[in-house]
Amino acid sequence: MTVLPGDGIGPEVVEATLSTLDALDAPLSFDVLDHVNASAYRRSGHALTDGDLARITSGSAVLLGAFGDPALEDTDYVRSVLLRLRLEFDLYANYRPARLWQDRLSPLRDPSKRAVDCVIVRENTEGLYSGVGGALRAATPWETAVDADISTYHGVSRIIDFAFSVAAEKVCMVDKANAVRSGGSLWQRCWREAAERHPDKRASHLYVDTAAMKLVTDPTEFEVVVTNNSYGDILSDLTAALAGGLGLAASASLNPETGFGLYEPVHGTAPDIAGKGIANPLATVLTAALLYERLELTAEADALRRAVTAAIAKGRVTPDLGGDLSTREAAAAVRAEL
Ligand code: NAD
Ligand code: IPM
Ligand code: MN
Repeated sequence: MTVLPGDGIGPEVVEATLSTLDALDAPLSFDVLDHVNASAYRRSGHALTDGDLARITSGSAVLLGAFGDPALEDTDYVRSVLLRLRLEFDLYANYRPARLWQDRLSPLRDPSKRAVDCVIVRENTEGLYSGVGGALRAATPWETAVDADISTYHGVSRIIDFAFSVAAEKVCMVDKANAVRSGGSLWQRCWREAAERHPDKRASHLYVDTAAMKLVTDPTEFEVVVTNNSYGDILSDLTAALAGGLGLAASASLNPETGFGLYEPVHGTAPDIAGKGIANPLATVLTAALLYERLELTAEADALRRAVTAAIAKGRVTPDLGGDLSTREAAAAVRAEL
């Protein structure tokens, strides 16, 4: 398996996670590419070489910390690493579960609404992220920016089918078909067709503004939410906050057909706390649990989640969760529970 620690808190949480995973004795070896980062990009103009890509391709999966640097302002860097990997391996299904880890971590006032246990299924290769567009009359007062919001029948059908395949009971499709004309009607058509293909599951629909409101007022109503790239990006930070924060939010970018996956926490490089040794490693530990689950190392995945739950229950956590442990100490606390 390839490991891309990345930038900012990425290397901190990845190092801590690997030290926890060592205790599991799982049949996995790690090929760590720590030279893929923002400083390499600044030096050479590219971060991911063809050689790196070949090493990644020969592995079974990728575990990634986070990529991004406040000094690199345009989208080219993140596009050349993170978004490139998602496209290169056609990782169209971004699976972002959110389950409240401890009642006291919920921001909601009403205890009966706190028990969120849902998954955001985000389309991961199309939408506003497709890079189609450009600037007209750039650097003039008439500058006009166009970023095409691409939806294809192929792309929308397959992500909705994936959402049904991971749901036990119900899927809610979220779009903005009341305002976004062509994409809206394509999502609606794919949705109707998919609902007919999956009569055993309950299918519902919400506009994204209402979905955001309902996720906050009663997240217990949701099981699987399927949506486009941008709405999925935003709603998965929202559900992360409901489940205890970005420090706990796991994510996997998958191609269900090839089985290849990029396992990356929901959070970014957190420049505000990078280098302080206080980043929460649990999102990456739980992301590794998603990886183990996909590799059918179910006992290891369960052990990791139980150990995380126990460490949280004992308050053996980093400051974002109200504890006073460092990144390494928090990872060691999980390891001690294994
Ligand atoms: P962020 O997720 O990095 O941080 C948002 C807030 O959450 C910050 O206050 C941060 O301190 C906190 N936070 C995040 N992860 C945490 C953790 N593990 N423990 C404790 N606190 C944590 O989002 P941002 O500040 O908007 O973005 C920073 C950079 O990261 C940008 O360059 C952005 O593009 C990039 N980014 C990368 C990824 C990725 O590689 N998958 C994801 C999101 C953002
Ligand atoms: C995420 C991140 C990325 C995204 C950024 C860094 C491009 O926010 O993985 O959620 O929007 O996909
Ligand atoms: Mn995001």
